[in-house]
Amino acid sequence: MKDKLEQLKKAAIDEISKASNSKVIEEIEIKYFGKKSELSDILKSISTLSDDEKREIGPLVNSLKLELNSIIENKKNEILNNEIDLKLKEEYIDPTIDLKNEKVGHMHPTSQLRYKLEDIFRSMGFMVYDGPEIETDFFNFEALNIPKNHPARDMQDTFYTKDDTVLRTQTSSCQVRALREFGAPIKAVIPGRVFRNEASDATHEHNFNQIECIVVDENISIANLISTIDMFIKKIFGEGVKIRLRPGYFPFVEPGFELDISCLVCGGKKCPACKHTGWLELGGTGMVHPNVLKAADIDSSVYSAFAFGFGIDRMMMQKYKVEDLRWSMSGDLRFINQF
Ligand code: DAH
Repeated sequence: MKDKLEQLKKAAIDEISKASNSKVIEEIEIKYFGKKSELSDILKSISTLSDDEKREIGPLVNSLKLELNSIIENKKNEILNNEIDLKLKEEYIDPTIDLKNEKVGHMHPTSQLRYKLEDIFRSMGFMVYDGPEIETDFFNFEALNIPKNHPARDMQDTFYTKDDTVLRTQTSSCQVRALREFGAPIKAVIPGRVFRNEASDATHEHNFNQIECIVVDENISIANLISTIDMFIKKIFGEGVKIRLRPGYFPFVEPGFELDISCLVCGGKKCPACKHTGWLELGGTGMVHPNVLKAADIDSSVYSAFAFGFGIDRMMMQKYKVEDLRWSMSGDLRFINQF
C-alpha cells in the first residue's frame, strides 16, 4: 500500500508540473481527487484494513491528500497569473501612439450648431429637454390644439406608423410633454429630428432638425419672446443680423408669427439667396394658446407663455452659406470636410 501511495504521488506531481492551462489542471484535479479517483478508492478501502495497518496507512493517505492539494492549488495560481498576464499583454492599448496621420473625422456642422444652441440656452438658464421621435397623435397634434380632421393637419405631410402613432412632424410635440413633466414656471428648449413626407429639394428634406423653445411664467409677453430670439440669433449669426416678425398661423399660438432674419449673404440689400427680399424665414413663434396650457393642466389665467420652433438645418445653411440642403445629408466628404 505504501508503494502504491508513493507511485500515485510521483505520477500526480509529474502531471501537475506539466500542466500548462486551467483546463488541464481541472482535469488533473478530477483525476486525482474526484469520486472515481484512485485516492478515493484507497480511502474507501481503509475500513477493510487491520487496526495496525489503519494506524500506519491512514495518516499517510491524509498527508498525501494535503500535499497534493497544496501543489495543485499553487499550480492553479501560477496558471491563472500567467493567463492574466497574457491577456493584459494581448489587450494592451498604447495611449502614446501618434494619431496625426489617422483620419478621425469630426462633428457634422448641423450637430455643431445644435450643441452651440444648447450651450447658449443653458447659459440663459434653460433646460434642454428630449422626447421621442415616434410620437403619439396626442402630443404631436391634439395637445397642440389640432384635433383630428382639423384642416391644419394638412400643413404638415405626416408619416403615420400605425393608428395613433406618427413620426413626429415637429419638436412642438414635446411642449406638452415637458409641461406635464415639470409644470410651470419653465424655460426649456427641445432640439431634435423631425420627419415629413416631402420630396427633397435644395431647401427641403424628409427628415430635418428643429429647435423648439417654451417659456411659461407669470406675465410672459411678446417682449420676452422678441428679446430671447434676438439674443440667441445674434449669438449665432453676429451682432449685425436683424430679426422681423410677420403674422403667421399656427394652431398652438395666438397671436402667431413667422420669424425672419436679415439675409446674411447680402446683409439685407436683396440678392438671389433671399429671393430679392432681404429676409429669410427661420420658423414660427407666438404666444402659447390657452388650449395648449390646458392640455398640460396649467392655469392660463395665472400663467402665460411663448414658444418658437426654428429649423436648425436652415440656420446651418445660413451660417455656413450652404446652398443645397441635400449636400448636408449626402455623406459626401467633399462637403463635410469643409467644416
Ligand atoms: N412647429 C411649427 C412647424 O414645425 C413651428 C412653430 C410655430 C413652433 C410656432 C412653435 C410655434 O413653437 O410657437 O412648422
